[in-house]
Amino acid sequence: LTPGLAVVLVGEDPASQIYVRNKGEQSKAAGMHSVTHRLPAETSEAELLALVKTLNADPAIHGILVQLPVPKHINDQTIIAALDPDKDVDGLHVINAGRLANGLPALTACTPLGSMILLKETLGDLTGKRAVVVGRSVLVGRPIAQLLLRADCTVTIAHSKTENLKAVCQEADILVAAVGRPGMIRGSWIKEGATVIDVGINRVPFSDPVAAAAGKTKVVGDVKFKEASRRAAFITPVPNGVGPMTIACLLQNTITAARRIAGLE
Ligand code: GUN
Repeated sequence: LTPGLAVVLVGEDPASQIYVRNKGEQSKAAGMHSVTHRLPAETSEAELLALVKTLNADPAIHGILVQLPVPKHINDQTIIAALDPDKDVDGLHVINAGRLANGLPALTACTPLGSMILLKETLGDLTGKRAVVVGRSVLVGRPIAQLLLRADCTVTIAHSKTENLKAVCQEADILVAAVGRPGMIRGSWIKEGATVIDVGINRVPFSDPVAAAAGKTKVVGDVKFKEASRRAAFITPVPNGVGPMTIACLLQNTITAARRIAGLE
C-alpha cells in the first residue's frame, strides 16, 4: 500500500506556494504517491468542488489538502464540507473537529499535532499544567486547545477580545501563540520557566531601514523571541520551530488515513 497525498493550491499566494512545494517534495521524499494540483486564481468554486469530488473517489489518494486561504470568491467552508472526512488530513471537516472535541479518534490538524509532540517530548506528562492558547482559529487555536485538554491540562483560550491578555499569559506554564500578529507577545508576558510554542509565521520588513526600503523581508513569530527566551525554559524559534513538525505530521496523517481506508486500523 503506497499512501497517496493530493495537495491543491488555488492562486499564487507566495507563502502558500512555498508551503505547497515543501509538502509535495517531502511527501515524495518519504516514498508516497504525491500529486500537486496548481489551479489559476480565477478557478470557480464549482471547478474546485469537482476536483475535490474526483480526489474523494480516487483510490490512489488517501489524503487531500486544500491549501488555505483560497481566493475570496470561493467559500472555504463549502470546499471543506465536500472533503471525504476520511481523507481530510488537515482535520478541518466538522466530522473530524467534532470527533476531536468528543475525544474520539479523528484526523487532526497538523500544526497542533506537531506542537503536542514537541511539548510531550520536552516536558513529559502535561497533567495539571496551565495552558494558555492565544488564538481561536479552526486550523490551530481550537484543535490545539482540544489536544491540551485531552492531555489533562487546564486550558484557557484567549483571543483578540480577551481583557488583560498580558495577565492571562503570565499564568501559563504552556503558552501557545497562534494569533498571526508579529511580536505581539512580549518577554514580560512570559512566566519564569514557562514553555512557549510560537505558531506565528509573519512576514515583516527588515528592521534596518536601508534593507526595508529595498523591499527585504523576514519571517518572525507572534512572540518577541529574544525577550521571551530570557524567561522561558523552552521556546520554539520562527522559522524552523513548529513549521517542520507540521509537514512531518501531514505525512503521518496521510499514513493514518491510508491505513484506516485500507481497514488496517
Ligand atoms: N495554510 C497555512 N497552513 C495551512 C495548513 O496547515 N493547511 C492548509 N490547508 N492550509 C494552510
